[in-house]
Amino acid sequence: MNRHAATGTAERRPSNLFYVTRLRRPVIERAEGIYIWDQDGRRYIDGSSGPVAVNIGHGNRNVLDAMKRQMEKATFAYRLHFENEPAEELATQLAGRLPGGLDRIFFVSGGSEAVESCIKLARQWAVATNQHSRWKVISRMPSYHGGTFGALAVTGDGLLTDTFADQMRIMPTVPAPTAYRDRDNLTMEQRGIKYADMLEEKIVAEGPDSVVAFIMEPIGGAATNALVAPDSYYPRIREICDRYGILLIHDEVMTGVARTGKFLGGDHWNCRPDIIALSKGIGSGYAPLGAMAAPQRIVKPVLDMGGFQHGHTYAGNPLASAAGLAVLGEVDRLGLIDNAAAMGEVLMDGMRDLAKRFPFIGDVRGKGLLTALEFVADPVTMEKLPPEIRIGQRVLDLAYERGLIVYFRRVTGGVQGDCVMVCPPLIVTRDQIGEIVSILGDAIAVAAREFDLPVNG
Ligand SMILES: Cc1ncc(COP(=O)(O)O)c(C=O)c1O
Repeated sequence: MNRHAATGTAERRPSNLFYVTRLRRPVIERAEGIYIWDQDGRRYIDGSSGPVAVNIGHGNRNVLDAMKRQMEKATFAYRLHFENEPAEELATQLAGRLPGGLDRIFFVSGGSEAVESCIKLARQWAVATNQHSRWKVISRMPSYHGGTFGALAVTGDGLLTDTFADQMRIMPTVPAPTAYRDRDNLTMEQRGIKYADMLEEKIVAEGPDSVVAFIMEPIGGAATNALVAPDSYYPRIREICDRYGILLIHDEVMTGVARTGKFLGGDHWNCRPDIIALSKGIGSGYAPLGAMAAPQRIVKPVLDMGGFQHGHTYAGNPLASAAGLAVLGEVDRLGLIDNAAAMGEVLMDGMRDLAKRFPFIGDVRGKGLLTALEFVADPVTMEKLPPEIRIGQRVLDLAYERGLIVYFRRVTGGVQGDCVMVCPPLIVTRDQIGEIVSILGDAIAVAAREFDLPVNG
């Protein structure tokens, strides 16, 4: 294995690119399967699939060939001037994989655009059905739904939203169902109900006639690090939304397209959301692509009213659609739903072994290959480690130096605790998972020494 110290801080020619921070990273040379090589020939395991996006792995020949074939014909056709076959076929293929009735597909180019579309469709549906007073979209705290103003307004993370608060209308939130942390006398199922009922309380407090939708990630992404709610949570949320005539939006941007061992994260509970946002996994890193899926009963009144007042230039272009279509083909051909489920078990077992070795790992969670471990001061009380040591970031850096990329983004300045997400491409093998867990273990061992944390055995 290629061990090295790739801190990304090496001397480099000045860049005209405006990166989000001053941190510079190695320059990518090529990528294949679960691996990425930089220009110095160093190899990295992409243990995070980029930002949990490259579901089918890098350099997939069939997808590249399908894109080349489409490029020879036409790369772009504006959706208001031409229909195109790949977009039509991709919509049909997607509709066939989504819960019954969610068969009206609207394409976009990314996750934030997909979420914006959901919010705007919900509002236009309310207007079109004479429910003008409904405009609030309740979301969860913490949560992540994207960086554009509409998506940000439903993102539960003060650190991301505060600066822009005056420029948008931040929406009401309910606590994310972090039941695993609760130390009370309730069973997990009772806690699931407790958290779901907080939505009802919020709806009542806001005024039911003012609320148009509730948006949630069925399994948490970067904000709650693969948070899985108790089983009882999901049907109760549906019940509450129905009771108040509120649309349930599932943000499946990170959880969709086989990531969690089902086509959708919500499929683990047979969820029936009213609108779904998809992205990341459908483009799988081959093309910027996203989608909103909704039923005819929501779309029709909006179209009857004069049309959906929304859209983006690159939406549903033939090249991105051809990529998406080929990606879905590979998900089926390679059996990636099943592999994600099976390899997810292997990965979680490996991470549970790490938790035995490092008692400061307080929780191992996730579904399929959307997994995370959480670092704590005390696994019994789930008391957090001091935020200033930034253990999640330190483990991420140590893993990166060792050629393993994992994922973590601190939410609200660390008050939610520190985690590491491990989300390799769904083509990952048992041996590769062994290597991932081994490097991660080495990184955590170094962090334990640095922060003087206990280690068993
Ligand atoms: C759940 C969820 N929704 C929306 C988004 C926004 O997607 P994008 O970055 O493609 O705009 C993300 C991105 O991480 C996400 O995880």
